[in-house]
Amino acid sequence: MSHIDRRTFMQTNGLLTAGLLASHISPLFAAPAGTTKTVRLGVIGVGGRGRLLLSTLMGVENIDVKALCDIDKNALAAASAIVTTAGRQKPDDYSDGDNAYQKLLERDDLDAVIIATPWKWHTPMAVAAMNAGITVGVEVPAALSIEECWLLVNTSEKTGIPCMMLENWSFRQDNLAVLNMIRQGLLGTIVHCHCAHSHDCIDHWFFDRNTGKDLWPAEYLLKYNRDQYPTHSVGPVYSWMDIGCGDYLDTITSTATGSFGINDMFVSRFGPDHPGAKRQYAQGDIVTSVIKTKKGKTIVVNYDMQLPRPYDNRWMVQGTRGIYSESRNAVYLSNVSPGYHEWEPFAPYQKAYDHPWWQQKYSGGHGGTDFLELKLFVESIRNGTPPPLDVYDSVLMSCLVPLSGQSIAADGAPVKFPDFTRGKWLTRKPSFALDNRIFTLPGAKPLINQNKVNGSNRALSK
Ligand SMILES: NC(=O)c1ccc[n+]([C@@H]2O[C@H](COP(=O)([O-])OP(=O)(O)OC[C@H]3O[C@@H](n4cnc5c(N)ncnc54)[C@H](O)[C@@H]3O)[C@@H](O)[C@H]2O)c1
Repeated sequence: MSHIDRRTFMQTNGLLTAGLLASHISPLFAAPAGTTKTVRLGVIGVGGRGRLLLSTLMGVENIDVKALCDIDKNALAAASAIVTTAGRQKPDDYSDGDNAYQKLLERDDLDAVIIATPWKWHTPMAVAAMNAGITVGVEVPAALSIEECWLLVNTSEKTGIPCMMLENWSFRQDNLAVLNMIRQGLLGTIVHCHCAHSHDCIDHWFFDRNTGKDLWPAEYLLKYNRDQYPTHSVGPVYSWMDIGCGDYLDTITSTATGSFGINDMFVSRFGPDHPGAKRQYAQGDIVTSVIKTKKGKTIVVNYDMQLPRPYDNRWMVQGTRGIYSESRNAVYLSNVSPGYHEWEPFAPYQKAYDHPWWQQKYSGGHGGTDFLELKLFVESIRNGTPPPLDVYDSVLMSCLVPLSGQSIAADGAPVKFPDFTRGKWLTRKPSFALDNRIFTLPGAKPLINQNKVNGSNRALSK
């Protein structure tokens, strides 16, 4: 295909994008009439992540943070200061022990809670909140065992209260543009994806950076050998592959390397006599899982959080008509890309297929992705619509934690996925990101205006 032809192709498809997106909007996700009702929130767990979410929330219009809960009074004071410094009323504090959250949940003025506590608390707190009639936004992973996954599903179904796991990478600008390209058919039928959470957290999140003392996540490295943190890897991939809405996870096989990195980190940073250097850790350094879907597609997932390296997700999606590679920041589309089997830059495609959610820049954690995720969560509560990621998405991402552990323990034998949707995956239609609202954030400069998105200015400029 000539350069001119290719440009025409991009223009045509860019234009189609907006039109097709609009035609796919389900009534449940259509942009509502714009109610401004205040959404009343509580935040449970205001450590590092909770406070980042809280400060990001300060940029979301028409919310009121009524209550904060943490067993650490210093964390609570720092969190309160975020709210009052933003010129808002000081929230009520709950800090009297591990179960103080139950008191917070007894309030009758909360629409939703955000849970950013250590992992073992996610499901108990989410279940208690749903039983109290309060919508849940829970940090990753939402559950640690298959029993916990079912508890979340059963409670959400029984109460009718939504539960959304706050998997932020599903909302990343590049990942949403790729989703858009897939929905326009540019990559053909999706056959295979790769994804990873390669994030060296050993020297600051699992253990104290200065002393090597165990922090709460260290317990999991001592006790378990599994993919401890799969949701950042698979979040966007599930939306690319319609997992839970057209296809479903069938089996997982997982293999772990031995555990070398943690001991070596202690030796190199604190010396061979540090207790951390001498213990045995159950967790292998790198876990590789292969998931097979019911429709015969595959996903390779890497857990990789304890060896020294820069951050990397290595998202890749291969279809019958082309491939996208996040590591290369490149695509190859058969009959479209100018070179024969040669990569071409992703940037022009990002521009042409940008999702309407990203027509402006946002401030806040993870390059504005956290803002978009929280804004959409709050809007769903305000409008009584389903959250962008629901309880099924949440458990399907989280259940890799226990299932990868089971497969590793069985020497890589395939383990079946439970059907958390009880067969509904066969008829459920994709709904994620089929909403073309463009948010206005005070002070934010829209990149493209609405008319141009739906009109004529989506051409590829090279
Ligand atoms: N989505 C992301 O990008 C992202 C990033 C970092 C962390 N996280 C998730 O956020 C969660 C918190 O991680 P973190 O790094 O903030 O840890 P953290 O240790 O900094 O914060 C956890 C907080 O929970 C409090 N806490 C513990 N038990 C409690 C209880 N029973 N009731 C109330 N508060 C309690 C602690 O005192 C602490 O302040 C984890 O689940 C983690 O996986 C997500």
